[in-house]
Amino acid sequence: MNFSEQLIEWYDQNKRDLPWRNTKNPYKIWLSEIILQQTRVNQGWSYYTKFINQFPTIIDLANATEEKVLKLWQGLGYYSRARNLHFTAKHVAFNLNGIFPTDYNEILKLKGVGEYTAAAISSFAYNQPFPVVDGNVFRVLTRIFGVEIPIDSNEGKKAIYSLANELIDSKRPLLFNQAIMEFGALQCIPKSPSCQSCIFNQNCYASINNRVTLFPIKQNKIKQRFRYFNYLVFISERNSTLLHKRIENDIWKNLYDFPLVETEKPIENIETLILHSDFQKFKTWLQTFSFIKKSLPIKHVLSHQKIMATFWLINTSAISKIKKNYTEINFDDIKNYPVPVLIENYVTSFKELEKK
Ligand code: ADE
Repeated sequence: MNFSEQLIEWYDQNKRDLPWRNTKNPYKIWLSEIILQQTRVNQGWSYYTKFINQFPTIIDLANATEEKVLKLWQGLGYYSRARNLHFTAKHVAFNLNGIFPTDYNEILKLKGVGEYTAAAISSFAYNQPFPVVDGNVFRVLTRIFGVEIPIDSNEGKKAIYSLANELIDSKRPLLFNQAIMEFGALQCIPKSPSCQSCIFNQNCYASINNRVTLFPIKQNKIKQRFRYFNYLVFISERNSTLLHKRIENDIWKNLYDFPLVETEKPIENIETLILHSDFQKFKTWLQTFSFIKKSLPIKHVLSHQKIMATFWLINTSAISKIKKNYTEINFDDIKNYPVPVLIENYVTSFKELEKK
């Protein structure tokens, strides 16, 4: 048996029964792939079910408001993916007569769809022979075939794509692609894979050489950026607060959070915070205000950024005017807005504290 036959046989015996595997509907496959780029299967499953229940067809998704799409996506992160998902649904629904493209190159033109997703859709929906190359595939192929070229170099990517093109079963591309991803997800896992039980252990370069966890090789470690967020949680006498729609080109675009003073360093006390120029603009909107409480700093880790967030609870007699990009809402209505998980967690803990 060759590599792809062995792999497909392993898949037949070990595969999980996942909802997006029982369909050829390109909309459902596309949706599942966009969600699964963002999260693992367990969590992705519940998001997939929520989306399919709310939007059974691409037309339903196209007709939704962006806010509703972001709200359903809440917690997955990388909100540009949700915005692109919505954009592409509208494009297919209104410009392509609701018909999902069938050709790889046409699929690749869709916003938010890269080579990986185009290959996944064309192989899973139309059984076309385009190999999927994602993190799982990089790991499986670099380990088994001992590819030492860093995968974050053009040369490394080329080497893996050409290997995958050679290996793909041209008669059963769907099965090959599902199998190699499943193999990466269940057997050839990043940390401590159980190589004794692996069907390839006699031929796997990394296993034979005791170098399994060193693959795939990367040249650049991602640089982390540290940010200090000071959230101003205003509470007025009528239990209203201010929310800010994040329209800037930054993380969490089009989600809502509290008014923000971003600083270079952690801020110790309210006096220092008030002196900050970003705080001054709020002062003019507030008739009177008094500081109540500062939260402990909360660490929120994103893929390239570490955020230390402090929530400053501030009483105000009234919020004088509603400004552009700031909305005065009842504190209890925050749950109806798409917000970052950091904000959702704070609001939940805030309510817990109030109950005590
Ligand atoms: N991860 C990405 N796509 C997947 C799929 N189709 N099945 C399981 N895991 C995946």
